[in-house]
Amino acid sequence: MSGMSRKVGLVTGAGSGIGRATALEFARSGAAVAVLDIDESTAAETTEMIRKDGGEALSVRVDIADEHSVRAAVERTLAAYGGLDFAVNNAGLASHHRQLDRMPLDEFERVVHVNLAGTFLCMKYELPLLEGGGAIVNIASNGGLYAIPTAPAYVAAKHGIVGLTKVAAVDYAPRDIRVNAVCPGPTRTPGLERVAAGTDMLAVQEAITPLGRLATPQEAAAAAVWLCSDAASYVTGIALSVDGGRRA
Ligand SMILES: NC(=O)c1ccc[n+]([C@@H]2O[C@H](COP(=O)([O-])OP(=O)(O)OC[C@H]3O[C@@H](n4cnc5c(N)ncnc54)[C@H](O)[C@@H]3O)[C@@H](O)[C@H]2O)c1
Repeated sequence: MSGMSRKVGLVTGAGSGIGRATALEFARSGAAVAVLDIDESTAAETTEMIRKDGGEALSVRVDIADEHSVRAAVERTLAAYGGLDFAVNNAGLASHHRQLDRMPLDEFERVVHVNLAGTFLCMKYELPLLEGGGAIVNIASNGGLYAIPTAPAYVAAKHGIVGLTKVAAVDYAPRDIRVNAVCPGPTRTPGLERVAAGTDMLAVQEAITPLGRLATPQEAAAAAVWLCSDAASYVTGIALSVDGGRRA
């Protein structure tokens, strides 16, 4: 991809699924990548994959739900690479499927805290580093745009991420920082396979998707990488569906 060489990127949740695919794609396009995850061993695996491919990467443990941890991880990236050009805030977790009146408050708060406050914290510490302009992509979900039945906490958090994205896009446009969201539909990742284990969820999702299949992690990653690239230089404040036609 043009315009990505020698840039520095940061990806959260880069030890698995969409985050790993995004980190690999950034590295292939010539960027140095900070591979952030709460799971040090999977982050190290991603870093190893990038290095074997001839790329530049550094793994950093982060818990996006913990402000000190986020600040330290961003500082570590700055110390290693001297700056930041783009960030993909992808780390997140799904919730148990329950209707609202059966959801304990602590589960609601945990899912909203990690997904929404976690994304907020990442943006809070990334934005000051994007000194010469840059781009942030937040990985929301199709659940950031419409209901996923029995997922009230996840859907509330993902709608919140779309809202945060729009406000930041407007507030930071004068500094030439673009902020967008990607809203994947069901994507075949270790995270989704865990949620779907023992159910017919994946087959049902395929059946109701116009393209007739789930996304690959690479297909969601490609949208994030494009939004960070110079090819998307006039695109900010959008929530881009990558959902096989579901929203249509
Ligand atoms: N897979 C899908 O179908 C799908 C659809 C829509 C949106 N998404 C979103 O895409 C993102 C990635 O999903 P995935 O399916 O690749 O998930 P995944 O579970 O395969 O990977 C998520 C990664 O995030 C890390 N993580 C979790 N909590 C963290 C924390 N507190 N701090 C730092 N890292 C943490 C995990 O260790 C893991 O490596 C999530 O935000 C998810 O909500 C996924």
